[in-house]
Amino acid sequence: MSDTSSEPISLAGALASFDELWSPRIVTAVNDYDVRVAKVEGEHLWHAHDDTDEFFLVLEGELRIALREPSGERTVVLPKGSVFTVPRGTEHKPLAPTGAQILVFEPTGTSTVGDRHDEVPDHVDATTGHALL
Ligand code: NI
Repeated sequence: MSDTSSEPISLAGALASFDELWSPRIVTAVNDYDVRVAKVEGEHLWHAHDDTDEFFLVLEGELRIALREPSGERTVVLPKGSVFTVPRGTEHKPLAPTGAQILVFEPTGTSTVGDRHDEVPDHVDATTGHALL
């Protein structure tokens, strides 16, 4: 089944349709990629996607992404309107101390907690994305 719709989709409407944090909704698909939106606040968990890059766009608020790179650990700060791509294989931990709304673009079936991850805390939904209701 395709997640594409024959009608335009309001991102604001999609985001208004759910309250769960760290629990992305699939708004549409592009070839074999999903476009997902999520509300986030606090910390996600360290994880890595071995086979895919992961694209982030900040729609509202500020997102930070901690990265473990060969040269060491750093955190990138993404204000509203910023994009960032986490390279495949790079351990990362998204966090949003004051909350954010984000759009993520990644292959259909990609898990939010990656292929390798720390223990999943209760406040994080380990999912490949939920359909919009
Ligand atoms: Ni990730």
